[in-house]
Amino acid sequence: MKRLVLALALALCAPLLAAAETSGDLFVKGEAAAGEKLAGTCAACHGPAGVSGNPEWPSLAQQNARYTFEQLKAFKEGTRKNPLMSAQAAGLTEQNMRDLAAYFAEQTAKPGVASEESVAIAEPLYRAGDLERGILGCAGCHAPNGVGNPAAGYPKVAGQHATYTAKRLRAYRSGEGIETAHGKIMAAVAEKLTDEEIDALASYLNGLQIR
Ligand code: HEC
Ligand code: HEC
Repeated sequence: MKRLVLALALALCAPLLAAAETSGDLFVKGEAAAGEKLAGTCAACHGPAGVSGNPEWPSLAQQNARYTFEQLKAFKEGTRKNPLMSAQAAGLTEQNMRDLAAYFAEQTAKPGVASEESVAIAEPLYRAGDLERGILGCAGCHAPNGVGNPAAGYPKVAGQHATYTAKRLRAYRSGEGIETAHGKIMAAVAEKLTDEEIDALASYLNGLQIR
């Protein structure tokens, strides 16, 4: 009898358990455990558990699942291009991308240290923007601690390598970085940034810590 009750209780709980197993967010619905099995090849460039050791290659750890998923789709569909990365996405199914996105969202970012001189230029821009020049504060979309907006798919920018971030900001500024439906939003901000501001923001973001 006890066993029957237990079996019944488990059966009733099954839908709940299944929901708990689906990691990632509601938009992406990936399985982190399945993603982990696919992530071995990614580690060659993005580092173990998505913490990249090469400043040109982005860290993926703790990035929100929606952003990662949308970028992988863009690489596969060819709207975002990179000689190293495009081939990696070519062989992934849509479910693979969902699972990988859920896996990287669960890893922990490793921030660096911002240069002292970057803070004076970057912090006011990051927090408040520049009203006179029509630049929105970054924090409004990427959050005060740089964690991003997971529901909207606005990326986490905290702890990313400065070299990669500066390259991305220049790509948005030139319009080349408009590779997804979301790209235009960021390009409209970046087009007003000077080189000095881009380098300062990139260093500042590298030092931002989620917590
Ligand atoms: C041979 C090296 C290499 C491998 C292996 C690789 N990538 Fe990449 N990946 C890159 C490079 C380089 C970039 C940056 C492209 C750019 O500058 O636009 C990148 C960018 C990305 C981005 C965009 C990150 C962002 O912040 O916008 C995602 C997501 C990504 N890779 C996921 C993966 C996944 C998942 C795998 C494994 C299936 C993988 N990569 C394997 C080199 C690689
Ligand atoms: C109105 C909302 C908004 C504001 C304000 C904004 N961003 Fe973004 N940002 C986005 C979105 C959306 C994306 C993703 C675009 C895409 O899909 O390529 C993005 C992407 C980025 C990326 C690329 C991340 C990666 O991993 O490749 C960086 C870096 C970035 N933003 C930095 C900034 C900085 C610095 C500022 C302030 C000067 C800023 N953003 C202001 C919405 C915003």
